Amino acid sequence: MQNADAYYLYDEAVILENLRVLTQTFPNFRFFYSAKTNPNPHILKTLIKNDCGIDAASSGEVRLAVKHGLTPDKISYSAPGKTDEDIRYSLPRSRVVADSLGELSRIDRIAGELGEKFEIGIRINPPFGMDSIFGVSSQFGIDYESLGEMPNLSNVSITSIHTHIQSQNLGWETLAGYYENVLSLAREMKKAGFTIETVNLGSGCGIVYDDEMQSPLDMESLGSAVRKLTEKYADVSRDLIIEPGRYIVGKAGVFRTRILDKKVSRGKTYLIASGGMNGFLRPAIANIAKLYGHVNRGAEPLISCGNPCKITVLNDLEDTETVTITGNLCSGFDVFARDISLPKAEVGDFIEFSNAGSYACTLSLREFASQPKVREFFRTVDGEVLE
Ligand SMILES: Cc1ncc(COP(=O)(O)O)c(C=O)c1O
Repeated sequence: MQNADAYYLYDEAVILENLRVLTQTFPNFRFFYSAKTNPNPHILKTLIKNDCGIDAASSGEVRLAVKHGLTPDKISYSAPGKTDEDIRYSLPRSRVVADSLGELSRIDRIAGELGEKFEIGIRINPPFGMDSIFGVSSQFGIDYESLGEMPNLSNVSITSIHTHIQSQNLGWETLAGYYENVLSLAREMKKAGFTIETVNLGSGCGIVYDDEMQSPLDMESLGSAVRKLTEKYADVSRDLIIEPGRYIVGKAGVFRTRILDKKVSRGKTYLIASGGMNGFLRPAIANIAKLYGHVNRGAEPLISCGNPCKITVLNDLEDTETVTITGNLCSGFDVFARDISLPKAEVGDFIEFSNAGSYACTLSLREFASQPKVREFFRTVDGEVLE
């Protein structure tokens, strides 16, 4: 890591601990890691070695999962707007999840062209919200009320359903209520004649970004609610999946950047660092949202809250000063933090940002201004650092 001015560091031990907590909370579930969260190859390898499947949001992620040796029963491919090519590649290699009635017909046609029968899933846009009794209009999934308009299918059979309506929930009762609503919906579908072998409940488990404003999800209470639900709905399916992303990796990553310059402009002290919006975009986007009055409301996966990370200086100084930390792009919005109190830092010191394991590296503007690409490192449980 010595030569890197800006880099991510992911910690395998934290990833494994988060996975252990999830396994305790959702016993007998299968976990399909949401690869778009952070597709770093070391992270994928660790999770796959620990029995996770992959939730793929594109045929590119199906490809990644195949490259890591996963078989079709451990890859779920759900995304709106699949091309014929996406479908042709993914049908034999994953469980393709149809996102609309039109897409369902297209998947059936392409399966026919491939000359094989495939089991597929459908994503349902449910008639309820995470914590409301109303469904919403959405580009995702097939409206529950439209299931009566299913096309005739000759080459595929629907054997699983998938739902996902909201990420970053910190209330266990909200999540438990949502799971119950989905399982009850699946039971209704079975009664109506659908074959449902697998229920994929999507994601939803959130993490604390802002220690002062948020409290952690109570995994013990969630776990006991989940155990009761799996007993109550044992007739619906024995193959239950969740597809977490941030819960596994969000807090397992930090972003570090070296201070390249320090200056005072009209009374304000600036620390100018490497890899702003082109390295770790999320703090800059949260700052922009604040400027437009969008305080503490999420716009996932770009914005989770107003203060998405804790910022520390990697030195031993105790004296503090008020600083604005910026990146080195030609944009006045390339700002990590404004007017915060930090231990005194000098050119060459590193600043560390927490909560950088999910929706971080991949979301950043890595091509912008032809700056050097931010690097990614992975510390194994044995303390080895891999790039
Ligand atoms: C369909 C689906 N599954 C899983 C996830 C992962 O969510 P999270 O990272 O909040 O766990 C997302 C995130 O947007 C999603 O859209």
